[in-house]
Amino acid sequence: MDIYQQLEDKFKGIGQDLNVHLEGLLYAKPITYWDYIHTDALLNLQIPRTDQPDEMVFIMYHQINELLFKMILWEIEQVASAETLATDFFATKLDRISRYFDMLASSFNIMGEGMGVDQYLKFRNTLTPASGFQSFQYRLIEFASTELINLIDFRFRATIDRNTPFQHAFDHLYWQAAGKNHETGEKTTLLRLFEERYMEEFLTFMKRYNTLNLWTRFKSLPEADRRDLKLVNSMRHYDHTVNVLWVMAHYHAAAKYLNSGDKPVEATGGSPWQKYMHPRYQRRIFFPELWTADELENWGLTNLEKHEVLTTLPW
Ligand code: HEM
Repeated sequence: MDIYQQLEDKFKGIGQDLNVHLEGLLYAKPITYWDYIHTDALLNLQIPRTDQPDEMVFIMYHQINELLFKMILWEIEQVASAETLATDFFATKLDRISRYFDMLASSFNIMGEGMGVDQYLKFRNTLTPASGFQSFQYRLIEFASTELINLIDFRFRATIDRNTPFQHAFDHLYWQAAGKNHETGEKTTLLRLFEERYMEEFLTFMKRYNTLNLWTRFKSLPEADRRDLKLVNSMRHYDHTVNVLWVMAHYHAAAKYLNSGDKPVEATGGSPWQKYMHPRYQRRIFFPELWTADELENWGLTNLEKHEVLTTLPW
């Protein structure tokens, strides 16, 4: 009766007759795993463009990445939208986000080891000018993790501050270097198509996360918590996993396939990939304030496999 009463109150509250809903239950089908998870839809999304069997590995691993990107964004959004942010809540979400990215970084050899080079070099020709570079969610994770200035190409940082229009900041993001000739300003097809599809959504997202990204939210925590060693180490772990471990795993996979012949082949997206993709040049760091001057200086040089776990705070 207690549940009945609660249901009656609930449906009355939205102007509905509980009895009609109860009667509907008489005819409702039982839920099944496949209807709930939508396995049929999910398993029909792998559509190779060639007859090379390993193209399936390539498609599916990218899709797995996109699903994990979605899980990451799901957690970050909860941190962003928490009206009052408790440190425990922040730390729990950060650990979840980190675990998902650990999985992406540590599983990349599925790509590196999982395809025949000869097959890759065949099916990739049908993919030009597409590239993982055009992953919308990957870019959202960057915007949602740090302040915009940390994603701006180093060469232009001095010209950009909090009053710079978002469009201008966007045009000077570090990844524009992969799709733009900076002397002529001309964009590659890779970048042009990406912007045509997502520009408006990017600008909206950038504005929202300008003050709600993980770093800004971390800074809003009480000082004692911001100095908590465990939390600082978790932040550093996430930063290093995304910006060094994943980047290096990706770089090694790209090098294996693209450098396999007598001379390097051009990337499907057309970027100067050997330079562009290495953390030493990209120097993308989400939380620079949590690394020492020495660590920043040597980013992408001495921390390629691991970073120091702090036992005391150096600041
Ligand atoms: C053998 C497999 C792969 C190769 C050879 C490869 C190669 C490349 C290359 C050369 C670029 C630079 C842009 C270009 O010119 O195309 C790039 C960018 C990118 N790829 Fe991959 N990739 C591989 C797998 C993946 C996977 C599984 C993902 C997961 C979604 C991914 C995500 C990305 C992202 C996000 C970028 C942009 C990175 C940045 O801007 O720093 N790639 N990839």
